[in-house]
Amino acid sequence: MISFRDRLILKSITRCSVPSLINSGINKFERKLGRTYLFSNPDLVHIEPTTHCNLSCTMCGRRSAWNKLIKNASHMTKETFLKLIPFLKTSRQVFLHGWGEPLLHPHFLWMVRICKKYGSIVDFHTNGLLLTKDNCEELVAAALDGITISIDAATSDTYKAIRGGDFKQLLWNLEQLSQIKTREKKNYPRVKFKYTLMKQNLDELALLVDLAIQYRIHKIEINNLVAWPNQSHLQKQSLFDQCSHVMDIYSQALNKANQYGILMNYSGLKPNIIKNHCPFNNFTVLCDGSVGPCGAQKFILGNVNTTSLRDIWNNQEYRKLRKQFYTSQLPHRCDRCYVRTNTEKDYVNPDMSYVQETLELRRWDMCDKNKPS
Ligand SMILES: C[S@@+](CC[C@H](N)C(=O)[O-])C[C@H]1O[C@@H](n2cnc3c(N)ncnc32)[C@H](O)[C@@H]1O
Ligand code: SF4
Repeated sequence: MISFRDRLILKSITRCSVPSLINSGINKFERKLGRTYLFSNPDLVHIEPTTHCNLSCTMCGRRSAWNKLIKNASHMTKETFLKLIPFLKTSRQVFLHGWGEPLLHPHFLWMVRICKKYGSIVDFHTNGLLLTKDNCEELVAAALDGITISIDAATSDTYKAIRGGDFKQLLWNLEQLSQIKTREKKNYPRVKFKYTLMKQNLDELALLVDLAIQYRIHKIEINNLVAWPNQSHLQKQSLFDQCSHVMDIYSQALNKANQYGILMNYSGLKPNIIKNHCPFNNFTVLCDGSVGPCGAQKFILGNVNTTSLRDIWNNQEYRKLRKQFYTSQLPHRCDRCYVRTNTEKDYVNPDMSYVQETLELRRWDMCDKNKPS
């Protein structure tokens, strides 16, 4: 008898292209061999289509620590995106989001179609407010795999306070997407809720499960709030001082989600060193074409507008980082990464000394700045 989890894994494998599965296998094997120069390409490609946004959420790094992203908001050009095709052909999964709202990019649907044409599993995070009947029809027709709706609330008032948007509009958009999928007899794109947990929205977790049932949501992903340095309003929202209370509320919500077959996960509030393999399988391309090994945008190791993908993937910096991972001599920004450590120290007022450096290395001149933020 195949378990529910195994069935999900099998389903996701059947949505991968054969070249991407072969590449993924070679990639893992090369890591086991301890190689720093990789013949395989990255397994996971993160692409930031834009840093423009239609919202200004209270916790967003775009407006707090990295204010410069708003001043220089820009879209990735089509030319930059097309340079990524060699890696799209072999990547197992592509994530089409960064610090901004992907649906604001004038050619976002074109990007999705290209990624799907080359066989990757494609998912993106969105605030969902720009999901119209037309773009939902196109996303379903393009066989998009997943949409992650960053919701962060289960009532209009809390949504307004955190995200500043129209909650009813979001629910209407979800209903519309669900109706189109039903009409087309399609299970995809799978819709997930993403919930950044904070004092302000903790009590709405049970209500969120009700919404997930109502809108046929596949999975709820809960994550801890990163309270950026010098953002006292965020530091007050952190839940690291209420560990057992949070876990009680989460367990109740999880029980209910389980009853209705909705997946739910949360890393909790206890330290938990995760062994990530970012420099071996991850290629993050920001909207200006600059590249790093990390979705958290902590490094810039090249730019696709000036250097070939393979040359960046195996350059001195990428290889040095791989060596540091093998020898467990992680650079500070990886050693203290909140994704890896799950500790209060790294979530609340984390050391962000690398931010200025990565911002300086971005090539703002490469982007299309025609649209206002
Ligand atoms: C930066 S957004 C970009 C995509 C899209 N605009 C959205 O809101 O989903 C990507 C994800 O980061 C999350 N996020 C933003 N600020 C955060 C913070 N301070 N701590 C934890 N997650 C955060 C958002 O909730 C969202 O799920
Ligand atoms: S919608 Fe996304 S990118 Fe825009 S401000 Fe909110 S979290 Fe940030």
